[in-house]
Amino acid sequence: MEREKFGSKIGAILAAAGSAVGLGNIWRFPIQTGENGGAAFIIIYIVCILVLGLPIMISEFMIGRHTHANTAGAYRIMSNGSPWKWVGWLGVFTGWFILCYYNVVGAWTLHYAFLSITNAFQGVDAKDYGNIFNHFVENPWMPTLWLFLFIGIIHYVITRGVQSGIEKSSKLLMPALFVITVCLVICSVTLPGATRGLEFLLMPDWSKVTSSTVLKALGQAFFSLSLAMGCLCTYASYFDKKTPLAKSAVNVAAIDTTIAIMAGFIIFPSIFNIGMNPDEAGMGASLTFISLPNVFQQAFGAGSSLAAIVSALFYFLLFFAALTSSISLHEVATAYMSEEFKKSRKQSAMIVTATILVLGTLCSLSFGPLGNITLFGRNIFTLFDDFSAMVLLPVGGLLISIFAGWVLDKKFYQNEISNGGTLKTPYFRLLVFSLRYLSPVAIGLIFLDQLGVFKLFS
Ligand code: PHE
Repeated sequence: MEREKFGSKIGAILAAAGSAVGLGNIWRFPIQTGENGGAAFIIIYIVCILVLGLPIMISEFMIGRHTHANTAGAYRIMSNGSPWKWVGWLGVFTGWFILCYYNVVGAWTLHYAFLSITNAFQGVDAKDYGNIFNHFVENPWMPTLWLFLFIGIIHYVITRGVQSGIEKSSKLLMPALFVITVCLVICSVTLPGATRGLEFLLMPDWSKVTSSTVLKALGQAFFSLSLAMGCLCTYASYFDKKTPLAKSAVNVAAIDTTIAIMAGFIIFPSIFNIGMNPDEAGMGASLTFISLPNVFQQAFGAGSSLAAIVSALFYFLLFFAALTSSISLHEVATAYMSEEFKKSRKQSAMIVTATILVLGTLCSLSFGPLGNITLFGRNIFTLFDDFSAMVLLPVGGLLISIFAGWVLDKKFYQNEISNGGTLKTPYFRLLVFSLRYLSPVAIGLIFLDQLGVFKLFS
């Protein structure tokens, strides 16, 4: 059977951008920026993307497009039977693993979109948002039901295939995501006091920049670009031979960064408008599900329809962002099952979906009935999250850069990214330099930093 392909260049870019634009852009990037020197952090982040992220993204694109195979198959082909083939397998494992807990949060966004539409936050006291969230996640049924719905949607898209499932949904969801973002930015920056929020986000404060800021920027860049989890390699395996790899990578990174910065334009003006301190607002789940519902109510008129609309749009934005990322993760595992075990797309998707339903439910229940199951002081959800962010991603990124920089033949590499010599590649030497020296050192440092090795010395 002929292998599927994306039908258009724009479809391919939107799909890859859908993978990149995720929860990380909205619930982590803005706060990290605000706390780590504003524009100074953004500049460092962009340098990390240009110098370290893009070379790895281009390498993943190249490996996927050249082999037209799932990530495990792709590295097996590229490695000629050497142990480097395990890098592909690691990518599949990482993607699959992340999917298990990422879906849980995707499900929460659906629940909060529903609460917003039904105006359930009307009349809620500021101090009660924490209880609302805790009651919800501790409940054994509600989060699980939303989780099943969320995974059901992903399953549906994946079974429809590359063009009618992934590409079509990206062409619908990514523009919708962008329009929602623009609407929310307009609502937020026109609030009284918005400029203070923008100043907090953008004023460069180089005094806040330390070596750990750089590591934070780099870690965020990696996660945000969906590097080292097989997603980009798998999607690139559906690219047409003529797809310009470097240009596509630049487009994906530009979309990802733009949405991340715009998310800051939504969040901070609202937070400052109600006189809240960004430190109080927190980051991640507490920002998204405890602080922001309250912020939107107060900033846009408690109980008003405008507040309900802004809040609903925001959770739909998160939902779309999480959905397109989850789809890309599911596809990594589905393509692997289907090609490595010679199963139909439907069967493969079923197997993947079944595993994530089980493991996802365990992660979800770890906030409630399974909360007492812990290891290293972490519940099941946090174990999945920390193990992937602190171990799997850096190890994967490190191995990919060494493989692309040291193992792959340079002539072959250049031929691939220049599409057989038809495109100019003035950046090629920088790319190789980055893959060989800069990335391994930088990723190695993040790895040691996250494991707390530096803290031991200081
Ligand atoms: N890049 C996504 C984000 O910013 C995260 C992601 C992780 C996407 C894994 C796909 C796969 O949230």
